[in-house]
Amino acid sequence: MDDLSFFDVVTTTRAIRRYRDEPLPEADLARILFAASRAPSGSNRQPFRFLVLRDGPAATEARALLGDSFRALWAAKRAAEGYDAGSGADPESPKARLAATMQHFVDHVEQVPVIVLACYRRHRDPHPTEGASIYPACQNLLLAARALGYGGALTMWHGAVDGPLHDVLGIPDDVVIGATITLGRPAGRHGPVRRRPLAELVSEDRWGAAPAWAADPPGTRFTSAGPPPPG
Ligand SMILES: Cc1cc2nc3c(=O)[nH]c(=O)nc-3n(C[C@H](O)[C@H](O)[C@H](O)COP(=O)(O)O)c2cc1C
Repeated sequence: MDDLSFFDVVTTTRAIRRYRDEPLPEADLARILFAASRAPSGSNRQPFRFLVLRDGPAATEARALLGDSFRALWAAKRAAEGYDAGSGADPESPKARLAATMQHFVDHVEQVPVIVLACYRRHRDPHPTEGASIYPACQNLLLAARALGYGGALTMWHGAVDGPLHDVLGIPDDVVIGATITLGRPAGRHGPVRRRPLAELVSEDRWGAAPAWAADPPGTRFTSAGPPPPG
């Protein structure tokens, strides 16, 4: 898998939420976390810490907590964002298929090959930009996983069990769980990343003035922003 170019990796690193029932070898896990550890951080404080959950006793307890949290938070999102309304009533619609993938994901948290809690150690009181020193590491991690043929999903769905996770895993009080990342060999294809066209995202000189050079490469796939529309 090492022969993927940087741009192949970037344009196919999608959120992967269905995994094959295969372990992730420790040598690959080490390479993935090495890539994460090379990320930049403010003042090079390197506040990122990675807590890997596999099948140890504490990890098993943590997975059970995460399973409950993932299911509760997805259920709330599913209702709030109307995944079952409008076209979502048709099981073949893109909206219903995304909901089915999400449901499968949260129903199998306990079996995901590897879960990484991407944490950071606070060096001052809570600050609006403090996450900025952990998320570059998370993206390095996801890109490295993709480069080695694995897939992952970065989630915030530990939110409902943050305190219990600290207790079960012995995470110090000054360490924040910034993201919960699932990892494994994808059950399906990676597929192309779809985003908005570059011209909608880039301006030059004045806000909103798209420069002619801001063109996507041929064959780029696009999608609108946000959760599926209500219809
Ligand atoms: C800050 C952030 C928070 C996210 N939170 C969740 C989450 O809680 N649950 C989840 O399943 N995916 C989560 N994701 C993954 C996004 O849903 C996903 O990257 C986005 O929908 C684009 O899909 P794609 O990466 O497959 O193109 C999150 C991604 C980011 C960057």
